[in-house]
Amino acid sequence: MAVLIDHPCVQHKLAVIRNVDTGHKRFRELAKEITKFICYEALKNIKTKIVTVQTPVAEATCRKIDTNIVVVPILRAGIGMLEGILELVPTARVGFIGLYRDEKTKLPVSYYERYPPQIRGGTCIVIDPMLATGGSTAAAIDRLKDEGADDIIVICIVTCPEGIELVEKAHPDVLIYAAAIDEKLNDKKYIVPGLGDAGDRLFGTSH
Ligand code: PRP
Ligand code: URA
Repeated sequence: MAVLIDHPCVQHKLAVIRNVDTGHKRFRELAKEITKFICYEALKNIKTKIVTVQTPVAEATCRKIDTNIVVVPILRAGIGMLEGILELVPTARVGFIGLYRDEKTKLPVSYYERYPPQIRGGTCIVIDPMLATGGSTAAAIDRLKDEGADDIIVICIVTCPEGIELVEKAHPDVLIYAAAIDEKLNDKKYIVPGLGDAGDRLFGTSH
């Protein structure tokens, strides 16, 4: 299932990040800010435990997060979302999966993996700004499940019906949170209207 984060503050930033005239510095700042807002919503139902805290006045019954959070950026573009989540959950651990889409086949090719052991029993948050065909996200979830993860959510900035469908079919237990569910993919498998190549725009590698 996909959850659209339709808050005006997120949608305003989305309008700016989509703009072709937004340069890589501002693009990076916006990716971080948008991610933080989406993550705030996505963690609404995270496991908590009741704790008692002594205030200067009396004892207070409070709630604290009660799961190991592991953020897993899909390299490279996922890196652009990492800081936003770590500002919200500074104690989160970080795993990495390197995938790129083969230009001809459009299928994900894996080139790097490193995960903390807390993916087993913890909550994994897969991050990638673009969930297009869904191939990269589904492959990342496959690998995390192979390694023993069983509580996984996905946070992306822009997705589309084709990508959601693929991930939902392969992993019906995984919720996808996004700031936009766009219309479609074009013949190059880019999201339309989307925001272009997220990795290139984040890191200034486009011409
Ligand atoms: C982009 C994007 C996703 C993937 C989405 O990465 O960041 O990882 O494409 O496409 P999909 O849903 O069709 O798999 P890209 O392959 O361009 O690599 P990069 O992050 O290194 O730029
Ligand atoms: N990867 C991107 O960066 N953008 C798209 O629209 C599709 C895949």
